[in-house]
Amino acid sequence: MQNSERVGFASKLGAILAAAGSAVGLGNVWRFPYETGNHGGAAFILIYLGCVFLFGLPIMIAEFTIGRRAKASTGEAFKKLAPGTAWKYVGYMGVLTGFLILGYYSVVSGWTLEYIFQSATGNLLGKSADDFVAMFNEFSQNPWRPLIWLVVFVALTHIIVVKGVQAGIERASKIMMPMLFILIVLLAVCAVMLPGAVKGLEFLLKPDFSKITSDAVLGAMGQAFFSLSLGMGCLSTYASYFNRDTRLGYTAMSVCVIGTCISILSGFIIFPAAFSVGIQPDAGPSLIFITLPNVFQQAFGAVPLFACISAILFYILLALAALTSTISLHEVPTAFLHEKFGFTRSRAAWLVTTGSLIIGVVSSLALGDWNDVRIAGMNLFDALDFLTAKIMLPVAGMFVAIFVSWKLDQKKVREEVTNWGTLRAPYYPLLIFLLRYLTPIGILLVFVNELGWL
Ligand code: PFF
Repeated sequence: MQNSERVGFASKLGAILAAAGSAVGLGNVWRFPYETGNHGGAAFILIYLGCVFLFGLPIMIAEFTIGRRAKASTGEAFKKLAPGTAWKYVGYMGVLTGFLILGYYSVVSGWTLEYIFQSATGNLLGKSADDFVAMFNEFSQNPWRPLIWLVVFVALTHIIVVKGVQAGIERASKIMMPMLFILIVLLAVCAVMLPGAVKGLEFLLKPDFSKITSDAVLGAMGQAFFSLSLGMGCLSTYASYFNRDTRLGYTAMSVCVIGTCISILSGFIIFPAAFSVGIQPDAGPSLIFITLPNVFQQAFGAVPLFACISAILFYILLALAALTSTISLHEVPTAFLHEKFGFTRSRAAWLVTTGSLIIGVVSSLALGDWNDVRIAGMNLFDALDFLTAKIMLPVAGMFVAIFVSWKLDQKKVREEVTNWGTLRAPYYPLLIFLLRYLTPIGILLVFVNELGWL
């Protein structure tokens, strides 16, 4: 099978844009603020930053190394690099994780479509903060409406993956992502100037270390993996398309810095706005959907047309950011089924689409009619998020670190990181130290601590 058949990018630029497109998404704009809100603000952000640069960055370089060396999607990569061993199960676990995340991630992606619709029809104008809360609750608890958007979003992802036109989408996102970034900066400036916003800034900037619980640390670690698309082989699959001269360290650093900036800036929109209108920062997954409309309303309400256009633009860009992530989530299990079981790409994609729709429907209903169904006190939506982001991704990440630093021939790793000796990469010894010791031990300690064994 041709490489280009697997993902559909021919060029190095396409693959790098795809990696960045996969990383930047709802995880930054939707999940980061609500996790920060749930875990008390500034102190959580500090731990999050530690997780990004001590765990995320080295593991991203490790995933890139695996992908480019093996020139295969994640399911096959471990098999190719360590034939006849159990390492392939790390790849398989990634495939399963991607598939599960796709299900509930598509639900939230569907919400962005509802909000494009609501802003285009002028329904976000002239409402109070309470109205926005009521509007979201009514929408998310409605048994049909979110499901319709879910189907639309999954269908969109399906078509793009089957037609192999990701390259076009990624190229479009080269223009759209900077636009989203500019809009986020603009909205953050507006949010910070809202009356009463200072409390939100305090929440973001003044760490209260008593809020650092084992739960918060696990949350920060899970958020780092989720937001950077790590631990499910998605970035290693994309890295299999990198050229020999793609600088792995530089690319990983760029993805980490861009992603982190977008997450933190999103916090600068959400918390000043939430405190300004009296919305609790720990509102959970609904947080950005009940807070953001207030920003458009309060900041631009005097010129309704402008408020409308900026809201439409924002939700369109957010939907696009979500789309580049769902494509990557869909691609990993599709490529796996195609390569492992010899299904045609179309049949493989249909299986993934059908399965993710079932998971999506269950997760969506879990926020409405099925809210009473609980696992360890969580509804099914939260339980799925917990299992994937806080357990499966970090576990796989830990194995990736161990694989690259202990199992792979170090000569090969050095070749990848230094582009066959053409780059200096003075950070190489530190990278290997982090991957060998700090990252796996750190991740393990977070789990042990959370389970109460410390
Ligand atoms: N990183 C994406 C986001 O922050 O929205 C979500 C995601 C995509 C997670 C791909 C994992 C993944 F493999």
